[in-house]
Amino acid sequence: MKHVFHPLLLFFVCITISSSAQDSLQNPDFESPPAAINITSQVFLLTKANSIPGWSFNGTVWYLTSSANSSFKARDGHAVRLGENGRINQTLRGTADGYWDHILSFNLAALNEGCAADSPAAVNVSVLETWKVIFLGRNLSRDMWERHAFYMGGWGRGDSVNLEIASVASTSGRNGSSCWPVVDAFTVKRNGMPRWYEGNMLANGGFEVGPAFLSNSSDGILLNDEPDRLVSPLQQWAVLGTIKYIDSKHYKVPQGKAAVELLSGAPSGIQVDLKLPTTFTSYTLNFTMGDANDSCVGDFIVYVQTGEDVHNFTMRSNGTGSASRHSVRFKAESSKETSVRFYSFNETRASDGVLCGPILDNIVLVGSYGERIELCSGVFIFSLFIALVMLVA
Ligand SMILES: *[C@@H]1O[C@H](CO)[C@@H](O)[C@H](O)[C@H]1NC(C)=O
Ligand SMILES: *[C@@H]1O[C@H](CO)[C@@H](O)[C@H](O)[C@H]1NC(C)=O
Ligand SMILES: *[C@@H]1O[C@H](CO)[C@@H](O)[C@H](O)[C@H]1NC(C)=O
Ligand SMILES: *[C@@H]1O[C@H](CO)[C@@H](O)[C@H](O)[C@H]1NC(C)=O
Ligand SMILES: *[C@@H]1O[C@H](CO)[C@@H](O)[C@H](O)[C@H]1NC(C)=O
Ligand SMILES: *[C@@H]1O[C@H](CO)[C@@H](O)[C@H](O)[C@H]1NC(C)=O
Ligand SMILES: *[C@@H]1O[C@H](CO)[C@@H](O)[C@H](O)[C@H]1NC(C)=O
Ligand SMILES: *[C@@H]1O[C@H](CO)[C@@H](O)[C@H](O)[C@H]1NC(C)=O
Ligand SMILES: *[C@@H]1O[C@H](CO)[C@@H](O)[C@H](O)[C@H]1NC(C)=O
Ligand SMILES: *[C@@H]1O[C@H](CO)[C@@H](O)[C@H](O)[C@H]1NC(C)=O
Ligand SMILES: *[C@@H]1O[C@H](CO)[C@@H](O)[C@H](O)[C@H]1NC(C)=O
Ligand SMILES: *[C@@H]1O[C@H](CO)[C@@H](O)[C@H](O)[C@H]1NC(C)=O
Repeated sequence: MKHVFHPLLLFFVCITISSSAQDSLQNPDFESPPAAINITSQVFLLTKANSIPGWSFNGTVWYLTSSANSSFKARDGHAVRLGENGRINQTLRGTADGYWDHILSFNLAALNEGCAADSPAAVNVSVLETWKVIFLGRNLSRDMWERHAFYMGGWGRGDSVNLEIASVASTSGRNGSSCWPVVDAFTVKRNGMPRWYEGNMLANGGFEVGPAFLSNSSDGILLNDEPDRLVSPLQQWAVLGTIKYIDSKHYKVPQGKAAVELLSGAPSGIQVDLKLPTTFTSYTLNFTMGDANDSCVGDFIVYVQTGEDVHNFTMRSNGTGSASRHSVRFKAESSKETSVRFYSFNETRASDGVLCGPILDNIVLVGSYGERIELCSGVFIFSLFIALVMLVA
């Protein structure tokens, strides 16, 4: 017989509530055009006199208007292309009381498919001292757009921060003029501080707290390698390789509104390092593994590492949204943090050639007192009883 200790809440501090509110970014999708634009022109080079409402720019920046016959299709008509030394910026002001995490998500594309092969388009996204270079991947999206995310930082009402998006010069020696990045559809999502619920020692074990999905987009959001879980767009989870954050509107999600899909990589996954109390004799890690109903057919292998142990879980996916629950038991290491890591190496592609893989959701970690303690306490109570009897006698 074993007991699972439930009120784990006691061990953690639950700080503020989660929310999906947004801080406002002006003209986030560039639908308000520069003042004196020749609207018949599909590519418009910005000049000092002609900035985009809400945004400042520097260097070579083009305002794009997609038309029925252009090779390029902005998802909503207009987008911005960052050329040589091209950068755009906007100052955001905190509007909510308290301290909030801010997650940026945006669309990234190149003007044509050909350029991505040898020198992928890339942007340098920065806020305050934090920056990250985000590359356009290969075979990661159904659209020519990829949606990416970036952890902007924490702030509250009255704070103001400057968001800047800059082009990153092509690394290839070839003329990469067609590879300058195109950006569109910026969204800022406000998330509350991490929250621990009763019966789970992991915060955000169901992946509900992450970047904002575009209501219109049927594709997920790509989350790039982020070893530090405290600055991860997926709250409390470090990201290994590239994973896709998927929503229940467009994918089969086992629980709640979101899950993660491990794309092929070397490896692709998620990780959290925890200092686990050794008062528990063992831990149980439960999770759901499945496929996203995105025609991802193949044999999935998910490796689950808990401390030094590695377990593997396999499933045959026919790409139609099946899922099953699994469980791993392990002991905590007394002195150091225990790594809990889920990852996958295998490459699987959906019928349209887009990389895909196993999905994970609803990860629950509980500690339990094993039989030994149970027995000990039984013996202890029995001895106590005998002692009492002897005392009375
Ligand atoms: C606007 O652009 C079109 C096509 O690029 C061009 O033919 C036309 O002359 C331009 N008009 C003005 C006023 O610049
Ligand atoms: C544009 O960038 C250059 C070089 O970084 C800088 O000298 C200049 O002041 C910037 N212009 C504006 C308007 O920010
Ligand atoms: C493509 O669009 C431009 C205007 O954006 C137009 O002038 C041109 O005739 C169109 N070409 C075709 C083949 O439709
Ligand atoms: C862009 O950044 C500059 C400083 O680098 C700042 O002066 C300007 O106000 C910013 N533009 C916007 C729209 O916030
Ligand atoms: C990205 O931008 C930040 C802030 O402007 C800068 O400090 C950093 O060097 C840039 N990184 C790259 C690789 O361009
Ligand atoms: C996937 O990538 C390969 C090259 O790695 C390319 O030939 C193919 O067109 C890509 N497919 C899609 C759907 O992007
Ligand atoms: C790149 O190619 C364009 C035309 O395709 C040309 O105008 C430009 O000068 C070239 N740039 C370099 C650095 O070779
Ligand atoms: C969604 O997409 C449609 C066309 O694909 C567009 O008309 C509409 O404005 C989009 N809505 C939003 C909220 O972006
Ligand atoms: C975890 O899974 C095991 C085995 O399926 C089950 O006995 C246990 O109740 C589960 N624990 C939680 C907290 O879901
Ligand atoms: C999965 O784990 C079993 C032992 O639990 C091991 O024999 C097997 O080789 C592993 N498979 C892979 C693909 O790592
Ligand atoms: C896919 O798998 C599910 C369950 O694993 C099964 O119910 C379904 O019939 C399968 N579909 C096909 C097309 O094989
Ligand atoms: C998955 O990866 C493992 C280890 O890299 C390899 O042994 C196995 O053959 C792969 N399976 C498939 C179906 O690709």
